[in-house]
Amino acid sequence: MKSVNFLLPFVLMALASSLASAYDPSPLQDYCVAINDTKTAIFVNGRFCKDPSVATADDFTSSGLNIPLDTNNLVGFNATLLNVDSFPGLNTLGISIARADFAPGGVSAPHIHPRGTELVLVQKGTFYAGFVDSNNTLFGKILYPGDVFVIPRGLNHFQVNIGKTDGVLYVSFNSQNPGLITLANSIFGTNPPIDPYALARAFQLDVNAVKQLQAKKRYSPRRRSHIGYHSRSPSPKRSPWSPPPNRRTGVGKPGKNLFVAGFSFLTTERDLERKFSRYGRVRDIHIVRDKRSGDSRGFGFLSLQKDEDADAAIRALDETEWNGRVILVEKSKSGR
Ligand SMILES: *[C@@H]1O[C@H](CO)[C@@H](O)[C@H](O)[C@H]1NC(C)=O
Ligand SMILES: *[C@@H]1O[C@H](CO)[C@@H](O)[C@H](O)[C@H]1NC(C)=O
Ligand SMILES: *[C@@H]1O[C@H](CO)[C@@H](O)[C@H](O)[C@H]1NC(C)=O
Repeated sequence: MKSVNFLLPFVLMALASSLASAYDPSPLQDYCVAINDTKTAIFVNGRFCKDPSVATADDFTSSGLNIPLDTNNLVGFNATLLNVDSFPGLNTLGISIARADFAPGGVSAPHIHPRGTELVLVQKGTFYAGFVDSNNTLFGKILYPGDVFVIPRGLNHFQVNIGKTDGVLYVSFNSQNPGLITLANSIFGTNPPIDPYALARAFQLDVNAVKQLQAKKRYSPRRRSHIGYHSRSPSPKRSPWSPPPNRRTGVGKPGKNLFVAGFSFLTTERDLERKFSRYGRVRDIHIVRDKRSGDSRGFGFLSLQKDEDADAAIRALDETEWNGRVILVEKSKSGR
């Protein structure tokens, strides 16, 4: 009996190693191009290991996941990922963890972790979470504190804080480096851009609509960031512009520079040029955009050739409807 017990671990090890050799190793990075000359090699599948005799408890400890992250951004979402880059003790252990903070209405935009299954634990708040399988079936669920939701490796998923308070998720991955692909970025924010024609055909959109999506500034997480990923993408949250009381349009006063406000966020410089060119040659068109996202703020400036052209444009267009919105047109006070 004793000898059986003694042999068992070896039998298991032999079995395990023969099973393991039946698989390719799971990749720990996006790619690892094979080369023949090892002198110029920089990658191993994972990281080099510290000499175990000098490892300390601190190598296996990380702190700070109790600290809420700043969610005052366009999507109302922020996350810290402790992967092998920020927590070296995870190397070869096939595990990592993240904290995700959500403002009310905050969204973790549809994304993929190519190398890890994700286990979500709701610590605080009410969430709508879901993933989409390879048959395009959506598995969506409302989650409350204490609920756990699993997202199979590599599938598109998202989370939305549908509660009235801040929300916190703790998520763990069965990879030391699960990776992050934010779909909007990997389609419309690539470098260099994907041919707009290909995307227009694929999404059944107008080529100009594709170009607009591609022109938006996007946050792309740095590789190997120590803070992990802080996702940011365009959101519908924008402050509407409202006219001041007793506003004066400046008709009859000198000036050929116009301030135009209240137009649709989809309006382009080209659209403004077309609309205002009826009153004179249009120059110096400038739509004011959000510095971070590149989204239009719905107002801007342009110049016409003569003061009378500007007066004519104000008379014709001020407080008129354009694409379902009332626009305001007045002489620019900033002297542009
Ligand atoms: C690398 O080695 C393989 C096998 O010997 C050979 O077929 C291949 O041409 C080599 N590649 C380069 C870039 O030298
Ligand atoms: C995420 O939170 C960190 C820490 O609060 C902050 O420094 C960072 O700017 C935040 N990122 C975004 C996109 O809000
Ligand atoms: C794929 O989805 C369709 C409905 O969209 C469903 O009828 C079908 O059974 C699904 N197939 C599998 C294999 O789940």
